[in-house]
Amino acid sequence: MTNDIRTVLVTGGAGYIGSVLTGMLLEEGYRVVVLDRLFFGPTLAHLVGNPNLKIVKDDIRWFDPSMLQGVDAVLDLAALSNDPVGELNPEKTYEINYKGRVRVANLARQKGVKRYVLASSCSIYGFQEEVVDETSTPNPLTTYSKANYQAEQEVIPLASKDFVVTVLRQASVYGASLRMRFDTVVNGMTVGLFKTGKLPILRDGSQWRPIVHVKDTCRAFIAALEAELQDVNGELFNVGADEQNVQILPLAERVAKALGRPLQIEWYGFPDHRSYRTTFKKIEQKLGYKTLYSIEDGVGEIYTALEAGRITDGPTTRTVEWYKTLQHWQGVINSVTQNGVIL
Ligand SMILES: NC(=O)c1ccc[n+]([C@@H]2O[C@H](COP(=O)([O-])OP(=O)(O)OC[C@H]3O[C@@H](n4cnc5c(N)ncnc54)[C@H](O)[C@@H]3O)[C@@H](O)[C@H]2O)c1
Repeated sequence: MTNDIRTVLVTGGAGYIGSVLTGMLLEEGYRVVVLDRLFFGPTLAHLVGNPNLKIVKDDIRWFDPSMLQGVDAVLDLAALSNDPVGELNPEKTYEINYKGRVRVANLARQKGVKRYVLASSCSIYGFQEEVVDETSTPNPLTTYSKANYQAEQEVIPLASKDFVVTVLRQASVYGASLRMRFDTVVNGMTVGLFKTGKLPILRDGSQWRPIVHVKDTCRAFIAALEAELQDVNGELFNVGADEQNVQILPLAERVAKALGRPLQIEWYGFPDHRSYRTTFKKIEQKLGYKTLYSIEDGVGEIYTALEAGRITDGPTTRTVEWYKTLQHWQGVINSVTQNGVIL
């Protein structure tokens, strides 16, 4: 901790990134309030009882603003968190990822919160021929990335000398978490190798993606929290590392090699129309931020955790499948009670 930020509210703090971030913030000595619907279950159970942690099961669309009393900073991660979920329910995706997070930012400003960080995504770049930076024109191709871009455009103008606003456009994240996601590219390949010996690849494997380890993306949130305000206020940052821009087929070769396994591919889907390479020089130059973890680190830790049974490929690890299940139960509950709000 380097400034006067002590109490941090993390929306989506029980999610894949949020649960790792919550643990890291507590280790750094912050008091943490998690605001999360807990769609993926009790992922923070191991931290319950920590006197510096409060978990509130509520929704960013309708939580009581008095919750922001005494909060110094908000890290806003809550979202329906990938492209397939966005297409499953575009209306809810705009409601939560765009309107819900703009609500959080506005309420935070009204309640005297000092800093606000929006969790956005490099997916807003969509398809790009050239390597892009924060000044490039985004090309959001999906509901999910359009909602992210709209949220960015409304929260950045809220920045003032009393309300520091930062947007982090994260690369695609990999690595182990207690809310495990096997629907991100490196994690999916690793669990595929573990279960069937085959790596799933979305056709045709030539598409580019920047990727980043989950602990590194969490370090970027903490860096934004601790930076001098003139370095981060009203600023957008891509989060990742230039050398972790990868094409999917060579990435699969690297994942197989890291685990000493032959490359056997299971092709799926239609040719991916998203492809982008991103430079991460701005965050390095302005915040002195560099990633610490490699693809091999992430693959190794996931594989070891799968072997040890510390993480499993259960029903909640494929985000869109899990939200489909929740929607099904929403229908069942609504038909019985008329008011079963799930999503
Ligand atoms: N994982 C990635 O590769 C990646 C990459 C770029 C950006 N992001 C962004 O980072 C953030 C976190 O992603 P993640 O991978 O941890 O996703 P996740 O799905 O694991 O976590 C999202 C969390 O938000 C909660 N949530 C959803 N809707 C809510 C609502 N209305 N109110 C309160 N809580 C709600 C869920 O219960 C969940 O715990 C998201 O904004 C996502 O779009 C993720």
